[in-house]
Amino acid sequence: MTGHQSLSFADAADLSRAPIDVTVVIDHLIHEADAAAPTSIGFPGAVDLDYGEVLTRLGNRLWNNIGDPTDLGGIAHTRVLERAVIAWVADTLAMPRDDRWGYVTTGGTEGNLSALHAAYRRHPSARVYYSTAAHYSIPKIVHLLGARGVVVNANPGGEMDYAHLAAQVRRRRRWPAIVVATAGTTLTEAVDDTASIRAVLDEHEVIGHLHVDAALSGIPLALDGQLRLDDGSGIGSIAISGHKFLGVPTPCGVVLNRESVRKYGNQIPYTDTLDTTITGSRCGLAAALLWHAIAALGHEGHRWRATQARRLAAYAVDQLTAVGWPAWRYPHAFTVVLPTPPEQVRKKWLLACDGAVSHLICMPGITHGQIDAFVADLAATAQPRLIPRPRPRPDGPPTPSRTS
Ligand SMILES: Cc1ncc(COP(=O)(O)O)c(C=O)c1O
Repeated sequence: MTGHQSLSFADAADLSRAPIDVTVVIDHLIHEADAAAPTSIGFPGAVDLDYGEVLTRLGNRLWNNIGDPTDLGGIAHTRVLERAVIAWVADTLAMPRDDRWGYVTTGGTEGNLSALHAAYRRHPSARVYYSTAAHYSIPKIVHLLGARGVVVNANPGGEMDYAHLAAQVRRRRRWPAIVVATAGTTLTEAVDDTASIRAVLDEHEVIGHLHVDAALSGIPLALDGQLRLDDGSGIGSIAISGHKFLGVPTPCGVVLNRESVRKYGNQIPYTDTLDTTITGSRCGLAAALLWHAIAALGHEGHRWRATQARRLAAYAVDQLTAVGWPAWRYPHAFTVVLPTPPEQVRKKWLLACDGAVSHLICMPGITHGQIDAFVADLAATAQPRLIPRPRPRPDGPPTPSRTS
């Protein structure tokens, strides 16, 4: 090990044999991450918040929130901060105070698993409906639960096709329905309309559970009042990632469930805690980091971050369109959808890509300079796309359709 140039995945075996110069290895990891950061605009992690104080002061010992957030026993845990995080997120989402429960998870995936597990225990014969634009964790969770999944079409903008949902529910109306709505789909940041989903369930007199996978957009939409759990559509649970909008420097998240939906877990004698969570030991540092984000900035600070990021996304759409590379976004979105650029541009800028369509995400901390440099690269290497695929509409989805 002589420096960062000599380190690669092929060296993994060397890295497990002492003696190793730990400083060199860590320097290398930091060097690689620093080098990639300026052109990393494809993934939804905010990079504007400083978590240094929490990491420096709490990062060197184990904080284990094992058990339920309401457990009081044990030492070296951050459950009091975890409860504060749950209260803040639930209040932001206007979740009824007398009917809420939640905990800090390892990320959006665990939140989806926890919520869907609780819903499926309550409705063991339910069919689980999710759209083709749902995150890949959803079919995986359906498989893990041994449930029956039903795939619903999404329109080209990524929003659920409610007419197709109705057709799918109609054929299965004798069974309860667990419907997964997405608030911020992975590729286009589309938001499924929970009122339309509820209308389908009511029309077919189907009981069940409505879960919202809001990994990216849960907090920014809630800050604007665009996502509320008291909106009458009967949202039963919601999952949010903590390393996305809040940019927490370790994967984490929050799940919220109706108190009346979940079932209480068992009391575990040897830990003296209530087993209500998916994992046993849980990261107390993540709860402290999440708490720091909300305590340091509050609603106003985070609303401002969301507004700035959306402005930058609008700017990116304008700049791309001006060089003949048609891009679009939803008005609420940080995500800018564009025809997939040539490979060298896509790879350099770490764009997430799904065939002909790619996206960049203007998360808080991404700068005008980065967008300008990306657009300049694209303009220098690619012919303008005069015939876009799919056909875009400024500041909106390519073909919005609630009724298709
Ligand atoms: C819509 C959606 N749901 C769930 C997830 C999974 O979240 P996590 O990576 O925090 O497990 C993602 C991640 O990108 C996502 O976009």
